[in-house]
Order: sequence, then C-alpha cells, then structure tokens
Amino acid sequence: MLAGMSPATLELDLPHGVAVAVAVDAPDAAPRVAATVPGRAPLDLDAALAALCAEERAHAAALTPVRRRDWVARRCALRAAIAQAGGAAPGPLLADDRGAPVLPAGVLGSVSHKAGLAVALATGDGAAAGWRVGVDVEAVTGARVDISRRILTDAELAEVAGLDGEARARAVALRFSIKEAVYKAIDPFVRRYVGFREVAVWPGGGAVAAGVATVDSALPVVVEAAWIELGDLWICSARARAR
Ligand SMILES: CC(C)(COP(=O)(O)OP(=O)(O)OC[C@H]1O[C@@H](n2cnc3c(N)ncnc32)[C@H](O)[C@@H]1OP(=O)(O)O)[C@@H](O)C(=O)NCCC(=O)NCCS
Repeated sequence: MLAGMSPATLELDLPHGVAVAVAVDAPDAAPRVAATVPGRAPLDLDAALAALCAEERAHAAALTPVRRRDWVARRCALRAAIAQAGGAAPGPLLADDRGAPVLPAGVLGSVSHKAGLAVALATGDGAAAGWRVGVDVEAVTGARVDISRRILTDAELAEVAGLDGEARARAVALRFSIKEAVYKAIDPFVRRYVGFREVAVWPGGGAVAAGVATVDSALPVVVEAAWIELGDLWICSARARAR
C-alpha cells in the first residue's frame, strides 16, 4: 500500500493512481487541523505555501484563513501526487468552469480535504483512453447527523438497515465518500449536478481495510471505484469514461 515516504506526506498506491495525503496547519485557522496523516506531522502553512507557484500563492492570499489552509493543502497534495505519478512540474493548478482542477496534458487528477488534511490522486494511465479520476476523503464515522436518507437509494438503505450505531455510521460515510469520488470522476462527462440517489454503490471488502465498489447508475458512463481505510479516514477513488 505504501509507495514511498517524505517527512510530511504519505504516498498511497491506489487502484486509480498514486494518492498523496498531507495535513497543513495554520495558526490563524480555527479549528486547527482536525485530521492528521498517520505517521506524519502536519506541514506548517508557510512551508506549504513555499511549495506552490506564484499564481497559486496569489489565489491563496485572497482566501479566508480556513479556506486558505484547506486550498493550500489540496494544492500541495496535488503537486506531490503529480510528481509521484511522473508528471513534469505543472503550472498553476487552478479551477476550470466546473470547479475541477486544471491539470497538465496527459495527467489525470483530483483532490479532496477534511479539516486541513488533503488527499490528491494523480495518474498518467488512462488519459489517452478518455478516463477521468476522482478522489474523496471522509471521517470513517462521517457526519454527526444521519444523512442516510438524503444520500442513499432505497436499495442501499435496505443494505445498511441491519446495522446500527458506529457500524451504520461507517457504512453510510463510506458510501457518501465513494459517491463524492464518483461525482468528481463523472462530472466532466455529464457536466451537471448528479444527486446522491442517482447513483448506488456497493462496497465490497468485508473485514479488510480496502476494497472495490460496484457503481450502478443510469448515467452514460462506465465507472470503477475503490476505497481504503487509513487511520480514522476513508480514502475513496474512482475513474470514469464515456459509455
Ligand atoms: C464537488 C463536491 C463533490 C466536492 O466535495 P467536498 O466534500 O465539498 O470537497 P472536497 O474537499 O472533497 O473536494 C474539493 C475539490 O473538489 C473538486 N471539484 C469541485 N467541483 C468539481 C467538479 N465539478 N468535478 C471534479 N472535481 C471538482 C475541486 O478540485 C475541489 O478542490 P479545489 O477547489 O481545491 O480545486 C461536492 O461539493 C458536491 O457538490 N457534491 C454533490 C454531488 C455529489 O457528490 N453527488 C454524488 C453522486 S455521484
């Protein structure tokens, strides 16, 4: 699972590319970084900013403290993931008209964050064949309120109906996270908001800490998805191409 290490980042070899996790802490951002990367200390905001290009630093300077910390963490993770995937040092990684990061030609990538901790996914594989990728990170027990009826289909609700307490919260959070990774992968093809109940996901894996998920929808895309449990986080990845 571990593809390499540096003092602040953790690299993970996922089915849809190499993922890099990094936490960034900022003295003026409250709450302080809430999620940490197992085995890694958070990176100081100034050190994280130094890894970015001038356009990215200018973008970050205009954000409020919490948004700046999280945006900078995502850019740091994305730059590191692109490097790990063998891509050349990219220009500014800003957003396209849909909010997805604009990436160098031939590189696929996606980013996500949870309270100062960012995870980015990048790969050169599949770009020429028209695939796109998505990544998402969530706390394993998810939101404090029960969001299951908003984000699960009736069939998914039936699947988790026998669970309660923490097991149910984990099952709901995992499905939520897989769907957000799927959304990021399919948005370039559908270019519209896709409701959580338009897609059903069936995570396999049982007792192990990683698995693949089957993805069902009526959308004109082929989708693959996978997940791992890392500390108290789900990290979910997906890739999609036009059907
Ligand atoms: C877009 C969305 C998935 C982002 O998730 P989030 O939990 O708010 O935030 P995350 O930290 O995980 O991800 C943020 C990143 O998402 C990416 N993103 C935003 N819009 C995107 C899009 N249309 N396509 C791909 N990636 C997108 C951006 O890279 C952003 O980071 P950046 O601004 O630093 O570049 C979410 O806000 C959303 O709109 N979800 C509703 C639709 C959905 O998930 N449906 C599920 C059924 S498929």
